[in-house]
Amino acid sequence: MKNSPTSPNGQDDISKNNSLNLSIEEIVEARLSRRTVLKGGLVVAAGSFFGLNFTGCGGDGVSLPAANVLLGFTPVAKNLNDTVSIPDTYSMKVLYKVGDPISNLVPSYNNDGTDTDFSLRAGDHHDGMFYFGMNTSGTSKDMNNSERGLLCMNHENITQLFLHTEAQATSYNVSSRLASQIDKEVSAHGISVIEIQKGNSGFALNKSSTFNKRITASTPMDINGPVRGNDLVKTKYSTNGTATRGTLNNCASGLTPWGTYLTCEENWAGYFKRAASSTLDAKSKATQDRYMGSSANNGSYGWANSTTTNDIYDRWNTTPTGATGVDDYRNVANTFGWVVEIDPFNPTSTPRKRTAMGRMGHEGAMPGIVTNGKPLVYYMGDDARNEYIYKYVSNQNWNEDDATANGLDIGDKYLDSGKLYVAKFSDTGIGEWILLSTSNSTIASNATYIFADMGDLLVNIRIAADIVGATPMDRPEWTGVNPLTGDVYITLTNNSQRGKAPYDGSGFGASETFGLNAANPRYYTDIKGTETQKGNVNGHIIRLKETDNNGAATTFSWDIYLFGAEADSASTINISSLTDENDFSSPDGLFFSQATKGLMWLQTDDGAYTDETNCMMLAALPGSYGDGSNVSIVNNSVPSNGNTNQTVSTFKGKNASTTNLKRFLVGPKGCEITGIAETPDGKTIFVNIQHPGENTTSLTNPSSFESHWPDGGTSRPRSATIVITKNDGGVIAE
Ligand code: FEO
Ligand code: CA
Ligand code: CA
Ligand code: CA
Repeated sequence: MKNSPTSPNGQDDISKNNSLNLSIEEIVEARLSRRTVLKGGLVVAAGSFFGLNFTGCGGDGVSLPAANVLLGFTPVAKNLNDTVSIPDTYSMKVLYKVGDPISNLVPSYNNDGTDTDFSLRAGDHHDGMFYFGMNTSGTSKDMNNSERGLLCMNHENITQLFLHTEAQATSYNVSSRLASQIDKEVSAHGISVIEIQKGNSGFALNKSSTFNKRITASTPMDINGPVRGNDLVKTKYSTNGTATRGTLNNCASGLTPWGTYLTCEENWAGYFKRAASSTLDAKSKATQDRYMGSSANNGSYGWANSTTTNDIYDRWNTTPTGATGVDDYRNVANTFGWVVEIDPFNPTSTPRKRTAMGRMGHEGAMPGIVTNGKPLVYYMGDDARNEYIYKYVSNQNWNEDDATANGLDIGDKYLDSGKLYVAKFSDTGIGEWILLSTSNSTIASNATYIFADMGDLLVNIRIAADIVGATPMDRPEWTGVNPLTGDVYITLTNNSQRGKAPYDGSGFGASETFGLNAANPRYYTDIKGTETQKGNVNGHIIRLKETDNNGAATTFSWDIYLFGAEADSASTINISSLTDENDFSSPDGLFFSQATKGLMWLQTDDGAYTDETNCMMLAALPGSYGDGSNVSIVNNSVPSNGNTNQTVSTFKGKNASTTNLKRFLVGPKGCEITGIAETPDGKTIFVNIQHPGENTTSLTNPSSFESHWPDGGTSRPRSATIVITKNDGGVIAE
């Protein structure tokens, strides 16, 4: 999601990291040289994941199993059309648009701002999703069924303008909101669980399914894990700190090997009314400063400022009004920023917030290779400028018998107790996973913020990561693990602050000093129309190789798999040799097919190249760690280097070519492409088109809307899920 007038979540992705970590610091403990790790042992991991066997291997000089795929389609040209462009050997249909009823009880969508009942309609801003196969009779889970299943998807945010009537939009005032409008906006957030079935005309929604469900920003949730019952999550709603209401800004997602859905709370901070600092105790102030910015504000949508007094609106206000935390909602924001587990096959179950995985701007949580008898490992990005990459390792070893078990109780076993690490990158191409725990002596002896207990530390995980000197990254987005190699990929979408120092007057901190380093090596200038953008404008994708291919390792090696760039930019910017067939900017969504091993999808959420092309999706065969070469990147006039040139030596992956990277899809105007799911046979993919026409600023002249996708004419644009199949019925991308 981007900042925009129509989705005024003004604090999105903005750095609140004022720490002074030197990300170029040596990793003293590291004993492995890059070379040694390159020669690291061959590991063959076999396991079960949704009934699919993973076989991973890797290592220097070891030939990897050839990916059973070719990118056998004609690449789609960059374009600014108000449509979805795909290769002409493929077909698509629109499956699920904002406002579509998921129940026969709700009328069809007018799309004119008058509609109600969003708790039984598709939410807005479709994002991360997964397809869970179910049996032919539609009663329970069958992960191998490619013709009937439950689609779980996130509704990250709203395009406020298009949810309301013109009169309502004109009178919008963040200081004074009508309850009915707040209710609609709250209900348009959250998750959809919908049953879909394949018929003669392809997949369609089964509106009669008893599994259909909306989870919204007001749905009751349990707080699980080490933070459960902690004073920091006690509120007037849950005086014992075990529950909260709602999930917010659900961006990317994740999977469990027992067939539940993980949804991740990203830019939740902007929704709350931030209290005046003078009303907060010192620790609460430190927390809010680190997560919500230091200025008092109404919250992006003013949900705390209803003209109707009711607890359901008061709960968006973090200002202390009562005697203690159980008399008001000063702690409510601490109940957001988590990974949330949902069991789509049990519609009456209460979602559980998995606090052992830390509180941040969670983009997603994807597992490493799942191996019987080994811990489960999850890789997670905290998406804001200069935030960190995290890894969760379960205390319990995976028991493959649990794969067929249903429900959230299995989640308690693996996701409520584990070790949480943060990544520190060395300029020598190695890295360290640093344990975030009160047992870490650096954390225990720090004077910056005294953690009362592990719950306090997990609520304030960013502060703990600051203390141990984690590496501030260029906005960590989705993560994915290549099932063929175990290599971990993390999109770093862009960073307008990289290389800018000292503090330039924008953003939050007076002490921002985020200079270049080997893992975040670029500062350059790009022109977009009349606009000049600086920093790491187009983003990159970093790749980690765990030592000995062991997901629980505490050291890793890394290279930069791919650099985003415009094809015609200088070779000092277009480092991966992108061409017109595969150039891109601002990588965000990243997903390894489980059906077609070796195939990776890449999606963009861009604001830099959008003068020349709408956002897009590419198919990639990403090779493996170490398949490229050393590179020295010359950066001109870098502010953090005293406005002089700075050459950064780093490690890049194999150059792009049309045999390993091709553009598969370009979306309509003003959209972001985000979220992809596939059927187990690999013959159908689902892709989300988020916020088409988001740069529209007025409802007055419908024909002037930026986009009218997907309904055409002078209609309001709608976020939607599309279904893509190959015309010959074959496997996608072969
Ligand atoms: Fe919601 Fe970081 O994208
Ligand atoms: Ca994004
Ligand atoms: Ca440009
Ligand atoms: Ca995203």
